[in-house]
Amino acid sequence: MTEQAQPACTRHASAGVRGLSPYEPGKPVSELEREYGISDIIKLASNESPLGPAPAALEAAHTALADLALYPDGNGFELKQVLARRHAVAPEQIVLGNGSNDVLDLAARVFLGPGRNAVFSQHGFAVYMLVTRAVDAEAREVPALAMEATMPCGHDLQAMAAQVDEQTGVVFIANPNNPTGTWVESDPLEELLERLPPTTLVVLDEAYAEYVQTPGYPDGTRWLEQYPNLMVTRTFSKAYGLAGLRIGYGLCHPAVADLLNRVRQPFNVNTVAQAAALAALDDNEHLARAIKINNQGLAELSRGFDRLGLKWLPSAANFISVQVPDAPATYKALLRAGIIVRPVAAYGLPGFLRVSVGLPEHNHRLLMSLEKVLKA
Ligand SMILES: Cc1ncc(COP(=O)(O)O)c(C=O)c1O
Repeated sequence: MTEQAQPACTRHASAGVRGLSPYEPGKPVSELEREYGISDIIKLASNESPLGPAPAALEAAHTALADLALYPDGNGFELKQVLARRHAVAPEQIVLGNGSNDVLDLAARVFLGPGRNAVFSQHGFAVYMLVTRAVDAEAREVPALAMEATMPCGHDLQAMAAQVDEQTGVVFIANPNNPTGTWVESDPLEELLERLPPTTLVVLDEAYAEYVQTPGYPDGTRWLEQYPNLMVTRTFSKAYGLAGLRIGYGLCHPAVADLLNRVRQPFNVNTVAQAAALAALDDNEHLARAIKINNQGLAELSRGFDRLGLKWLPSAANFISVQVPDAPATYKALLRAGIIVRPVAAYGLPGFLRVSVGLPEHNHRLLMSLEKVLKA
């Protein structure tokens, strides 16, 4: 649409919003079916759980449908009780979100704005830029570690700390990060928390925490008591397999939670999501299975990429970003083969494709198709 064709009211949109590009989600299966007229499609594009939710979570979701005429519990009482016990915090320290993205957005709305800035890493999760610009704050994207570093393309915590000043409302740290899969270990993270001013909220985004098996990886909730400026975010979208229901949460100081809850939409987390999340938390076996399948899949994919002579970024999450000779062409060729992966050029990684870990047969099919595409 040209500038002239825009209705006059759009002039009041802030410069930050005008400068934004909309978030680009992975291509839905139905879209590929329509565009290419093919079936038997696998989607390895949005870091979802190939195992899906626990059967008990599905059942709880079905049961909750009976209450659809009523508003949800706007305070998520029961779920907060269970989460509080699990994380050894008080219910007042929990903010529920419509996905953890919602909590990231709340943090930006409360702690950022014109004249303030947010610090995050290059190749960091796209939503940090989005929520920062949406409130007209300055986005300080800090160069990531070099490709040759021990943690290639990972967060450079020291460089990030150096960008923090009195106007820094939020520092976003994704651990592990999406789309790189890279992570930060306990000691450097604690040094950073120690070094940052108490006036800056540190958002430690642990969307993939359940999957992580690497030694030295910290559960950030251990620092909540020590650092009242820390918020840890978690989600039910990944290891718990509930991405479609949109539910996540933040753990923080009660005073921070109180501020976030003031701007939160009153019924941001629906009844079905709350019921399913509660049931999901009760099924540790299903969670363990999801983690096991993921770790086997990570190993299988990385071995497969090695066999194909492809470079990949070390990942502790449920996806791997792999470097391919012509990423846009490879992406399209895989689409034609019925496999959706995720180009990550918009994340400053133009030569890479991000592949979510699937079931063993999905990973196998991806590797076979990739081999064919590379040979063609
Ligand atoms: C690093 C990171 N944080 C947060 C999210 C948001 O997840 P959700 O809003 O589904 O909880 C994602 C989703 O892909 C992510 O990769």
